[in-house]
Amino acid sequence: MIFVTNNAHKLQEVSAMLGGKIALQNLRDIGCTDEIPETADTLEGNALMKARYIHERYGTDCFADDTGLEVAALGGEPGVYSARYAGPGHDSEANMQKLLTNLEGKSDRRAQFRTVIALIKEGKEYLFEGIVTGSILEEREEGEGFGYDPIFRPDGYEYSFARLGDEVKNRISHRARAVEKLVEFLKQ
Ligand code: IMP
Repeated sequence: MIFVTNNAHKLQEVSAMLGGKIALQNLRDIGCTDEIPETADTLEGNALMKARYIHERYGTDCFADDTGLEVAALGGEPGVYSARYAGPGHDSEANMQKLLTNLEGKSDRRAQFRTVIALIKEGKEYLFEGIVTGSILEEREEGEGFGYDPIFRPDGYEYSFARLGDEVKNRISHRARAVEKLVEFLKQ
């Protein structure tokens, strides 16, 4: 099955969740070097846009995902703009810094990661959603992972995703929950 992504970390994360049940190929494996547009203003729209792009050109079954960090006190921001919150060309450090600055002095630290997976199978489209609720820490914690992991603490845990590590994160994350639904569907 083709996973429409260039992110090696994500491919590894999702492959680990599938436990070898489904072999995944990424964009490089199928020789696609295009910059696939992600210009929708919702996670659902972006996931569908990426899956449709590959399905239209390669005619194969495939799935794509899109994720956002939705912060309650910021009206759901950065949401679909999570990757480029601090502006184009900025990295995760800048994004986290901007978020911490925008939350300074705010007592409501609630946030959630939300992943939407769009699957195209035999020409039909399906959406799967995974959510993990938590809160934004005052300061970053060192560890594994990527993106906002150093400042996101999932509910029910004492530490950030970064400090909890990939093994715990892969069991409880937004992406894990969306992938679980995808796998359940594919098994039927
Ligand atoms: P994408 O749609 O999966 O590429 O995610 C968009 C942005 O959300 C990424 O660039 C990250 O900043 C953030 N993000 C997505 N998934 C995660 C995660 O599992 N941990 C931390 N940040 C994430």
